[in-house]
Amino acid sequence: MILAITKERNNQEVNMLELGQEYFPEDEAQTIEELVNIFEFLMRDYKFSPTPRTQHPKSHGYLQGEFIIEENIPDQLKVGIFANPKTYPMWVRFSNGSGFSDENGNFQPDTRGDIRGISIKLMGVEGTKAFENSAVNEQDFIAVNTPVFFLRDAKAYLDFFPVVNGIRDGKITMNADGTPQHIPDELKPSYDAIAYSLPLLNNVRSQVMTSPLEANYWSATPYKFGDIAMKYAVFPHIEGEQFNIETAKDKTNYLREAMIKHLAEKEAYFDFCIQLQTDAEKMPIEDPTVLWDEKESPFIKVATLRIFQQKFNTQERIKMDEKQSFSPWNCLEEYRPLGGVNRARKIYADMADFRNKINQK
Ligand code: HEM
Repeated sequence: MILAITKERNNQEVNMLELGQEYFPEDEAQTIEELVNIFEFLMRDYKFSPTPRTQHPKSHGYLQGEFIIEENIPDQLKVGIFANPKTYPMWVRFSNGSGFSDENGNFQPDTRGDIRGISIKLMGVEGTKAFENSAVNEQDFIAVNTPVFFLRDAKAYLDFFPVVNGIRDGKITMNADGTPQHIPDELKPSYDAIAYSLPLLNNVRSQVMTSPLEANYWSATPYKFGDIAMKYAVFPHIEGEQFNIETAKDKTNYLREAMIKHLAEKEAYFDFCIQLQTDAEKMPIEDPTVLWDEKESPFIKVATLRIFQQKFNTQERIKMDEKQSFSPWNCLEEYRPLGGVNRARKIYADMADFRNKINQK
């Protein structure tokens, strides 16, 4: 159970949340250990080589660019790297979330609905790291194409795995309107625990992406921002016509094809924006399924992502991508990840080490 702070208000006992404050469930360490066991099992279970990531394994491209801090940032947002205008070398990876693949390593086609990710790595960043495993001189920002995450907490992941497997294997059957038709008794507790997440997931999956360079991405989970808390988002500059999926030579991998075409002709740009937490109850830290309303606190631009015109569909670049590790915990102390979902994500570095060790054998 999450501990909340109790205060007196009008002689009534009420639970009050505090800005930027984290609340820790008692069994969190055990949940994280179970997640590590599942991810290590999934990695050993891949029938092909090299072993990919278990989450977001399908990459659309690993790209080079630069991250340009804005010159006229409001004083309140001059925190950490945003205190001074500067340009950092940057790597960006675009991905699909689903880990399902056939035994030859073909992941599900891009035409199928999925969560899509952007992973951004700034190089040469100086400052105090948030975590002993944080990579030195790197600052990562990781976002997906939805402003809310579909699971409330790390524990929900443990119930989510048996339910998605049950749906995929036909043990759980669904009606066309998304309500369950049949759930076997042994999967019922897990299904009931995460039933709220399925409409959220279906909502993201129903979106059609033209190109990874033409989509919006949000951190979905909160981070520290100096003494307060924030979420961040990445919004594309769209000029001219968007990629037409019908023109793709290979619809299975059309998201990579769309980027190859775009970056052969021109650069790509995104705005990097920050949204401050201004209300601890309406904009909670511990529940990333709750949308932080932009009317309450708007996203403010603090930097530009410039992705160079480039040829990236090479074996050399694909190998670099496979070895690379992004993590929300590769960050400065000023942007320490907040909330239970993010605390569970401390495992990314270990998962990347595990995968790289298997691949060295
Ligand atoms: C309890 C919650 C979560 C767990 C346990 C989890 C777990 C993982 C793991 C194990 C990886 C692969 C790491 C590697 O092998 O290098 C990964 C990658 C990824 N996750 Fe999560 N994740 C969680 C929540 C989230 C959330 C909230 C987001 C939203 C931004 C997210 C976005 C991503 C992305 C984009 C990648 C790909 C990173 C890359 O490009 O290397 N995950 N996740």
